[in-house]
Amino acid sequence: MTTNQPINDVMNARHSVRTFDGVTTIKHAEMQALLKTAFLAPSALNLQPIRALVIESPMIRQQLATATGNISQLTTASAVVLFVNDRENLAEKKPFLPSQQTGVKEHLDIAALDCGLVAMQFMLAAKDHGYDTNPMTGFDHAAFSQILNLDTARYEPLLLVAIGKAVTAGKMAKHKAIKTLIDFQ
Ligand SMILES: Cc1cc2nc3c(=O)[nH]c(=O)nc-3n(C[C@H](O)[C@H](O)[C@H](O)COP(=O)(O)O)c2cc1C
Repeated sequence: MTTNQPINDVMNARHSVRTFDGVTTIKHAEMQALLKTAFLAPSALNLQPIRALVIESPMIRQQLATATGNISQLTTASAVVLFVNDRENLAEKKPFLPSQQTGVKEHLDIAALDCGLVAMQFMLAAKDHGYDTNPMTGFDHAAFSQILNLDTARYEPLLLVAIGKAVTAGKMAKHKAIKTLIDFQ
């Protein structure tokens, strides 16, 4: 259930959490609602190449935990969501201007950007629903694909996001001074 906090409060309250309570389950309707919000994210040319695999099974997560250093997240979260690039989405690409045509490599780079936006929106929606999250690139893509029986020609794993109820509240990470990050011209 959404807390309806102002978006700025949600953004300030989101912190990576790596140990969850291990007991909370998220109903499919709620997970679907979170992902529906996540997939409102913009994508290049509105191609929407990202897909989400919601991994709930404790048995599968135990197996996946052998293919990542992020064991606590895998084993204690309510679910882990694997965001992948669907390469076959390329087939739907019908650029209307030559300047919008991109090669396959650019496509993967662009899909990674699209993925980041979907995942960020997912994490904020999750926070708004009272859950915490942790985005992770630290996992063995090939091993995950094998354990999850993914068609590797089609699906490119990009980002894993653990979601659940935190055991202890996440803390604000150290952030660089804003003046070292931005410039105006
Ligand atoms: C692309 C990406 C990959 C990450 N991979 C991992 C990871 O494999 N394991 C982990 O514990 N945290 C991972 N993180 C979380 C970062 O460590 C965390 O976002 C950063 O320290 C800032 O903390 P915050 O999320 O609490 O703001 C990742 C974050 C991003 C954006």
